[in-house]
Amino acid sequence: MEKRMLFPQVGGFLHGGDYNPEQWLDRPDILEEDIRLMKKAGINSATLGVFSWSVYEPTEGDFHFEWLEEIMDKLYENGIYTILATPSGARPAWLDAAYPEAMRVSSRNVRDHHGGRHNHCMSSPKYREKVTIIDRKLAERFGKHPGLLMWHISNELGGECYCPICAKRFQDYLADKFDHDIQKLNHAWWTTFWSHRYNSFDQIEPPFDHGERSIMGLDLEWKRFTTWSMNDFMKTEIAVLKEVTPQIPVTTNFMELYYELDYRKMAGELDVISWDSYPGFHNDREALEETMLRTAFHHAVMRSMKREKPFMLMESTPSLVNWQPFNKLKRPGVHKLASLQAVASGSDTVQYFQWRKGRGSSEQFHGAVVGHDGTENTRVFREVSEVGTLLKKIAPVAGSLVKAEAALLFDWDNRWAVNDASALSNETKRYDNTCINIWQEFRKLGVEMDVVPSDADLSQYRVVVAPMLYMLQPETADNLKAFVQDGGQLLATYFTGYVDSDQLCYLGGFPGDGLTELFGIVSEEIDTLYPTDRNHIRFEDGTEWEVKDYAEVLQVKDAHVLASYMEDFYQGTAAVTCKEFPTDDKCGRAYYVAARSSADQMRSLFLKMLQDAGLSVKELPPSVDYSTRIGEDGIYDFYMNYGTSPVKVSGVAGTDLITGGSVQGELELETYGVAVIKH
Ligand code: GLA
Ligand code: ZN
Repeated sequence: MEKRMLFPQVGGFLHGGDYNPEQWLDRPDILEEDIRLMKKAGINSATLGVFSWSVYEPTEGDFHFEWLEEIMDKLYENGIYTILATPSGARPAWLDAAYPEAMRVSSRNVRDHHGGRHNHCMSSPKYREKVTIIDRKLAERFGKHPGLLMWHISNELGGECYCPICAKRFQDYLADKFDHDIQKLNHAWWTTFWSHRYNSFDQIEPPFDHGERSIMGLDLEWKRFTTWSMNDFMKTEIAVLKEVTPQIPVTTNFMELYYELDYRKMAGELDVISWDSYPGFHNDREALEETMLRTAFHHAVMRSMKREKPFMLMESTPSLVNWQPFNKLKRPGVHKLASLQAVASGSDTVQYFQWRKGRGSSEQFHGAVVGHDGTENTRVFREVSEVGTLLKKIAPVAGSLVKAEAALLFDWDNRWAVNDASALSNETKRYDNTCINIWQEFRKLGVEMDVVPSDADLSQYRVVVAPMLYMLQPETADNLKAFVQDGGQLLATYFTGYVDSDQLCYLGGFPGDGLTELFGIVSEEIDTLYPTDRNHIRFEDGTEWEVKDYAEVLQVKDAHVLASYMEDFYQGTAAVTCKEFPTDDKCGRAYYVAARSSADQMRSLFLKMLQDAGLSVKELPPSVDYSTRIGEDGIYDFYMNYGTSPVKVSGVAGTDLITGGSVQGELELETYGVAVIKH
């Protein structure tokens, strides 16, 4: 397999993070010391300029980049590359004073005052103009700098704007989408309900908190529009950078499963996917292992957006954050674990927010590699340096890829639709968690699983799981049918195929769009259980699963019944079914699990699917996480121990890149230990 190095000039992993020298321009001694400390910690990249606008352009039209040039030069002379951000994440005071339209309007129709960050209007022509001017200047001045690795567009793009300019663009967006035919929109949005028909597109307002909140189609299109509008803003930034510096890749830093933006729609504009990971380590709700496995899911979501290349961990904290309800320190060794888990999941970078703690303002107590003491004599500095050393040891892994033959379908549209539906119970819908829990169960079996949208091409997968796929995209049902007919093993659950992509219910039985035939069942009713209610289902072999939250009552058409309910008025009726699609050499299967059971109870069914698909599983001790990257000169297996005592993993063979030793049979992992085995 060809190596897909993100940055061939670096020759390995990037290790770095956000660096804010503009806060220290009056302290040349500190800037000098930063370089010494960065080299000591094995840092080879710095993300500059994320919030530098008021230093670049202290008053309108008066530009100062000389300080940046000096810093980029010095970094580069010392082997440290630059990721340069565009400064649009926060605006200088003069800009908001001169052009108030740049300030965002909230869902209560109130315009923000100047301040904060990540709060510009995405549509404001004036703001776009000002951003374009400064982006062009940055590109012209630094585009050929040998230290420049990539552009970092803005920062953590997010939020919504309800201003008159955005509202008008929303109307135009809708007119386009519905062919300028308001009756098409009225039909798609079912507006005759409560007499909410529109006569023209200019009557449509965004879903203000104190406005229209009863039309599901409006809510959904507003979310889609907000993604479209943010993407459109991002594209104006990318356009000017690509015009001046076509050779420099672009990214923007995503935020986990950020609810308000469908990141997949933005991914196509980016050369590389990057994201900011801040798990709540050592919280009072869960074991570290659970925190880590949820983070592994987030990595998989990012990785799956561009499977053909590594992604980037753009930000993580070297120690603690300052914005959790309780800002706990990462325990010794956990920084290494979290950093290498990102690498194991396909990241070619480990980067931090932030290099040095600021003296004042709201992030003064956020963790950093260098604290207010300003020295290398700290636990955090030593742990970061250890990661620097490890990344050098495992450098051959850079450019390799994670390859999955199983996939979980997870959609932003579906998230929005499930949450917005006035149905089930808002306390227990938990679409995200349902997906994450199932994905984790596969991960515990050592199976790599992509996380892809429901209309993705499934032909490269042999196992597909589609939890709670309430909304079907136009292509989804056909994709799923083709997948099973081609021998794939598919599993869907309760609350599948109720609505189309406008959120109109399918007529003729759920799951709609022909999926009743695929699964051989019709879901007649769905029962929402109170949190203390339980039911059970029993399989032919006597296995029982506990049911909570949701139970659908099925009519079985031509599927095999694998398990039935044990209680309530639907006792004895089908709860888990399978319809087979045999061909000469293979047999596709469509499983339907009509009730919610915990993912660990479903494990036996997952094992059967994997076995039928010919995918192998691994026997791993409970605290050990496993992930594998495939490179041109070897396969790299990562074993990570999230437990607080040492463990042994059997069946391991190869060379440990970290110790340099050979492992034949049994691998010993210390508490929070990591091994990278090449074979
Ligand atoms: C985000 C931002 C950073 C910083 C960190 C703090 O990721 O991008 O600028 O505020 O949060 O955790
Ligand atoms: Zn706006």
